[in-house]
Amino acid sequence: MTQTYLPLNISSVAQQLKTQVIGTKIHYFPKIDSSNTRAAQLAEDGAPAGTLVITDYQTAGRGREKRKWISPPNRNLLFSFVLQPPDSLQSILQITSVTAVALCDAIRKETGLHTVIKWPNDIRVGEKKLCGILTEMKTLKNKVEYVVIGMGINVNTQPEDFPVDLEDSATSIFIETRKIMSREKLLLAIVHSLDKWYLEIIKYGIGGVLSQWKELSDMPGKLVRISNRSQKIEGYVLNLDADGGLLIRKKDGFTEKILSGEIEILM
Ligand code: BTN
Repeated sequence: MTQTYLPLNISSVAQQLKTQVIGTKIHYFPKIDSSNTRAAQLAEDGAPAGTLVITDYQTAGRGREKRKWISPPNRNLLFSFVLQPPDSLQSILQITSVTAVALCDAIRKETGLHTVIKWPNDIRVGEKKLCGILTEMKTLKNKVEYVVIGMGINVNTQPEDFPVDLEDSATSIFIETRKIMSREKLLLAIVHSLDKWYLEIIKYGIGGVLSQWKELSDMPGKLVRISNRSQKIEGYVLNLDADGGLLIRKKDGFTEKILSGEIEILM
């Protein structure tokens, strides 16, 4: 029997949502260029913090490093939200890390899958990518005006839906569990988790996120190679720094904080 994939039942999600900030305003589009682009336009027009933009299909979805984010219609979760972060939360890496913790926490609870955070913006099952986070911000005179955080989560993607070059490096909840997952249920859990974690850092600071990151990431202790525009560094991952950087103990014994780069796990 062929599976039909219905559009999201957004009114059912809106009715069940009991959050304080994230999702208090929802814009749903069956099809859009990119939810990050639309959320940024809404933020420019004064949309309040927590405004959520959700879509079932993107014609110009994008990821980090100008990569494309491709997702077949009605299979997955594609959404972005606007934040006007407090002064204590002004770095892209910090915001991405809180989002990764909230996502990983919700997906683990809803699916039972052992998902892990791969710094800075991936959620993986084993070596395969399940979700990506794209955090973009607008600053004026060194002050953050707004941030847009976008998430692509492979929920019901079938193995044949992935482009050939991603077959070995991407996965979906369906592929891992062999069950079609309710996107509405998962979306509700994720938005509640995002709301909870953002309120937690606004009230208590980033400390709770750091310890949770350590628990949800399988990176501490791993030998990694990080390549960015200026260098290639090898070393053992220690932890996440308070500003979202990755602390690495190099082979010469010195500790270095990494703020950007592609990461390769060696051991
Ligand atoms: C990455 O892994 O490089 C980040 C991928 C982020 C993709 C999501 S899908 C929803 C939102 N809209 C976009 O255009 N990108 C993000």
